[in-house]
Parts: sequence; structure tokens; C-alpha cells
Amino acid sequence: MSNPDFSNDLICENLSVLDDTLYFAGQNTKSLAEKYGTPLYLYDEDRIRKLCRIYVSAVKEAFGDKGHILYASKAASFKRMYEIVKEENMGIDVVSGGEIATAKKADFPLNKAFFHSNNKTDSDIKYAIENGVGFFVVDSLDELYAIDSIAKSLNKKPNVILRITPGIDPHTYEEVATGKVDSKFGSAIETGQAKEITGLALNLENIILKGFHCHVGSQVFDSSVYIATVYVMMAFIKEMKDAFGFEAEILDLGGGYGVKYTARDPEIDIYANVLEVCNCVKDEAQKLSLALPELYFEPGRSIVADAGLTLYTMGALKKITGYKNYISVDGGMTDNPRYVLYGAEYTIVPPTMMSAPRDMVCDLVGRCCESGDIIQEKINMPSTLKRGDLIACLTTGAYHYSMASNYNRIPRPPVVMLKGGESYVAVKRETLEDITNLDV
Ligand code: LLP
Repeated sequence: MSNPDFSNDLICENLSVLDDTLYFAGQNTKSLAEKYGTPLYLYDEDRIRKLCRIYVSAVKEAFGDKGHILYASKAASFKRMYEIVKEENMGIDVVSGGEIATAKKADFPLNKAFFHSNNKTDSDIKYAIENGVGFFVVDSLDELYAIDSIAKSLNKKPNVILRITPGIDPHTYEEVATGKVDSKFGSAIETGQAKEITGLALNLENIILKGFHCHVGSQVFDSSVYIATVYVMMAFIKEMKDAFGFEAEILDLGGGYGVKYTARDPEIDIYANVLEVCNCVKDEAQKLSLALPELYFEPGRSIVADAGLTLYTMGALKKITGYKNYISVDGGMTDNPRYVLYGAEYTIVPPTMMSAPRDMVCDLVGRCCESGDIIQEKINMPSTLKRGDLIACLTTGAYHYSMASNYNRIPRPPVVMLKGGESYVAVKRETLEDITNLDV
């Protein structure tokens, strides 16, 4: 008998099959489901650290002390993640008081935090200043004035970088394409508003303008997108130097590198890509006679996505004769809203019968009271799967736990970390008590 071909399943180096069972980070997924229950978010700590180190070593090779990596914590925000990132000597991107509070709980040095968001509330701004958040990434004029005035009332002078819209199409799905001129984020170069906000920021007394930020999109595979962004941003830095005598000390190029959700997705060589972008910044600085800025990248997805996997237990198999088949699981859009939102593709496998023929086409659906509660459509699964069997959804480390909801008052799954053959709970499973305890 020929060996079964798992090449479409084993899309990351941390996946393997032994005795027909899926192993993740070298651990038996069936045993983990038995130990922690389902639905269950698993994270491979070694994989997270490996990716952090790839980013940090690439930026340090090219830029030395002037190269920095910020983890975009919106991808997966919980205390343990901030501890890991702190240990890996990285900074963070945060977008709300909640993310700042979580980082604080991890004793993260908040002077290495960059506060994003297109609409920071007054209380978030105050909270960030009071807690010593290092940099505000300012999205609009209104926000710039709000930060200046709150800083004045607190007798502080926070560092600011301005989010600029470079007018670059990142060739990704619409919901995450943010570099285009009509984006809700940032101030566009094309309309003159980027120059206007720079001039105004330089005249404010209670902030210190340090430089510029941009983020063109997410799940981007085309490296030429980043090179085009560097040309535009470096030209903008030069234009601001000529116009105002202001030379940016900081250039933050955002995040966005894509990851493999299915065997059809390409694999990005992060190290080579980061080096290429860094070298382009150096070349442009030389050509335009600019000092080398402190250079920042802000990856989120590519640090955590394939370090994550979700385990579900199957409920009903419903065969609607002549129409379609449904497999229901004990999770759904509450722990994975990405198919509903973006039609995101995933690799779904039966972790306890990896070599069984995948002879049934079906939709994988959740348990919410909502027809749209779909995790994936038209997947191939063994027709022998039955209630109580496990189902695994791969590459769920980014924008899953962080986007989970309590729709239908369904408790969120726990986050369990795997490291060196051991496992530990990083976030506990929500209980029915947790679900009800804010009701008065
Ligand atoms: N920096 C900024 C300013 C961002 O807005 C983002 C992502 C990142 C960095 C990190 O991008 P990444 O490396 O993760 O692609 N919920 C969507 C993704 C939204 C991305 C929002 N911003 C999804 O599940 O695909």
C-alpha cells in the first residue's frame, strides 16, 4: 500500500501525522482535546518565537540598532503573548485601552508601545499618556488636536508619528486594504492632507513629531508592494524636509506579510523580504540625501497565524438528500468569524483519521443560531466521521481569539500553549458564570 499523501494538510513545519493522528508542535491533538476539552485554541510557542527571531534578526542585520520589530498585538492579544514578545525584545502595536491594559498586566515596557487606531477616545488617550505609552500613531487632524490638548492638561509631551496613506493598492481583500487613498485610515499624500497634518503637527507645543507610519494592507504576498511603499514614503520624507526643514527620525512601514492558509497559498521568505525592504530604504536615503531613519515593521498575522490551530468536536452530520451535507461543530463564527467576514479559506482535517478517504463533500458549520455561521464550504471529509469525532482547523493563530465573540452567549474557548512537549493554559475557558457576571 502506498503511503497516504498529506501534502495538502501539512502546510506548516509544526504539523505531522503519526498513527493516523494529527500532531501539532510535536503533540498529539487527540490527547490535547481530551485534556483541555473543545473547542480549543492551541498555540505553538516555539513557532511564535522562531518567527519573532526571524523578523528581529533580519531587521538587525540590515539596520543594527536602528531596526525594530513591533508585534501587532491585534492579531492575538492576551497577557502571555505580551510576555513572549517582551522576552523576544520586540515592541508592540496596540489599538485600544484594552490592549494597553493587557500589555500592562504582562509588565510590558510601554515605552516600546505604539498606539494605533483611527479613533482613539479621549479616555484612551489619557490612559495611554498616564501609562507612558511610547508613541501615538496619529490618524487624523481631529485626533492630533485631541492628543495635544489632553497632553497639555496632563503636563506631558508625547511622541507622535503620523499615519500616512501612500496610495498603494496591496492586492489583497478589500476589508484589509488600507493603503489606498480612500481608506478610513491615515492622511493621504495625494490629497495634500499628509503635508497639511505634518505642518500643523510641527506647530503644536504639547507633542513631539518623530516621523511617519503607513500600513498598506494585510495578507500581502507581493513584495513589490512594500518596495513601492518605500519609494513613496521616502519621497514624502524628503518633501517634508524640503517644505518644513523636518527630517523624520522614524519610518514605520506597518505589517501585512501573508501566511499560508491552504496548500495553494505561497510561502513568504520573511527574512529575505525584510532585508530587501531595508536595503531599499537605505538606497533611497542615500539617493535623497536623507539620514537613515529608525525603521519599524509591525507584523501580526505572520508571527502567530500558523502557530495556531483550533480543535472542535463534531456534533451532527446532516445529509440533505440531493442537496448538501453539513458537519456541525461545537464552535463556529464565535471563535472564527473570518469566513463570514472575508470568505477566508482554511485547511480543515479530521485529526484522528488522517488517512481515511475524504469521500464526502460538506459544509463545516458552527452552532450559532445563524445560517451564515459557516467555517468553510465544500470541503472533503471522510463519510465515516461521526458525532464525537474531532475536526481541526489549521492556521488559526491570528485574528481568531482576538476577534472571538459571545454571540448566543457562547463562552470563548481557552488558549493553550504548547512548548517543548509540555502544554499550559494561557487563557482559561470562559464559563457560564463569566458570561453572565456583568449582568446587573
Ligand atoms: N499595523 C497596522 C497599523 C495594522 O492595521 C495592522 C493590521 C497590522 C500592523 C498587522 O497586520 P498583519 O501583519 O497582521 O497583516 N481581521 C483581519 C485582519 C485585519 C488587519 C488589521 N490591521 C483578518 O482576519 O484578516
